[in-house]
Amino acid sequence: MLKKILNLGFKSTILCVRDRIKHSILYHKYKFSKWHIGASLNCKLYQKQVVNMVNSLDNIDCCIELGCGLGHMLNGISLPKKIGIDLNPNTIKGANALGLSNVTFIHGSFEKINGVIDNKDNVLLLMINWTHGLETDILIEKIKELNISYVLLDRIKDNIKDEYEFHHSIDKLNEHFEIVDIVDSVDKIRQFVLLKI
Ligand SMILES: C[S@@+](CC[C@H](N)C(=O)[O-])C[C@H]1O[C@@H](n2cnc3c(N)ncnc32)[C@H](O)[C@@H]1O
Repeated sequence: MLKKILNLGFKSTILCVRDRIKHSILYHKYKFSKWHIGASLNCKLYQKQVVNMVNSLDNIDCCIELGCGLGHMLNGISLPKKIGIDLNPNTIKGANALGLSNVTFIHGSFEKINGVIDNKDNVLLLMINWTHGLETDILIEKIKELNISYVLLDRIKDNIKDEYEFHHSIDKLNEHFEIVDIVDSVDKIRQFVLLKI
């Protein structure tokens, strides 16, 4: 507990408790995965890190987050167009009920992406903390079908064993896409990889 407070800082710890209470109320109403109760920019340092990475990118005016959960990262991202897509319909109901500003939420997955894009050159696709359940070849195939120019995803570091099925090696990603940036996550479990498609 003390370690957590030291990691987050006092202010974020208080705000995290507030977020957890809000999410718990929504959880009882909408029955999304319990994981989302403790997930917000105040509770998860990696979420803040992703938001800062996206906000520092040039030439992007639309962010589509696949696997958006309750949408906290999109809420922190400063771009004119923000779309959150999630496979779980109850999570989308929770995200809509949370009422975060300027984000459109859609239930679905990869198949919904091309339909919401106006101009591929300015679109970043964000996929964080779930593609470790997707086989690397399938992930690559799915990305290639999309009408987008950048992807920011996380991969699990090579030294992390057991918990995560697919790590998505840098070499394999590099065979198919240009790797623009690789950043170690604050949680030391993953790396954020920016790909140009
Ligand atoms: C662990 S949560 C992470 C949420 C958010 N990306 C974050 O890092 O805070 C994973 C989310 O991805 C969603 N998800 C899992 N597989 C998906 C898929 N194939 N397409 C879209 N969403 C998916 C889940 O429903 C869940 O909301």
